[in-house]
Amino acid sequence: MKKAISISLALVGTVFITSMIINHSSALPAAKDGIVSRPIPAGVMKIAEKSCVKCHTEGGKGMAQLHLNLSNWDKFSPEKQAGKAKDMCKMVSKGKMPPMSFREKNPGGTPSQEEVKIICDWAQSYQVIKK
Ligand code: HEC
Repeated sequence: MKKAISISLALVGTVFITSMIINHSSALPAAKDGIVSRPIPAGVMKIAEKSCVKCHTEGGKGMAQLHLNLSNWDKFSPEKQAGKAKDMCKMVSKGKMPPMSFREKNPGGTPSQEEVKIICDWAQSYQVIKK
């Protein structure tokens, strides 16, 4: 009899712990669709530093920050990071960012083709993990 009780207690315990784990992981935003918040990789940040941060970080241009504030990147949800990374790829691929006036004043500040690819590969990596 005592044995039966301890077995059923162990069973209840196992179910309880399992449900805790399941509940806990589904409460994390990242677990839902498999993408997680991550910092901007060093390779991308290097490009952003010469081409984007002047306007798109704290103390930069008001309008630019409204669209994209790289200072707050690590606080973005994974979905927001994925969306913003995609926007960044789109804007540099089309040659819309950095703006023409910036390119004229900073000849070295325009991302090269390889650098555009680095940004877009990184943006793509969010989608790949998402599945
Ligand atoms: C000289 C300042 C400046 C620089 C440098 C700059 N931007 Fe911008 N960016 C802006 C401004 C201003 C806006 C908002 C107004 C607009 O859409 O033109 C903007 C908007 C954006 C948007 C939002 C576009 C939209 O329509 O939603 C993205 C994404 C973006 N920039 C990415 C970048 C990236 C990536 C770089 C670096 C490769 C960069 N920007 C460099 C000024 C800048």
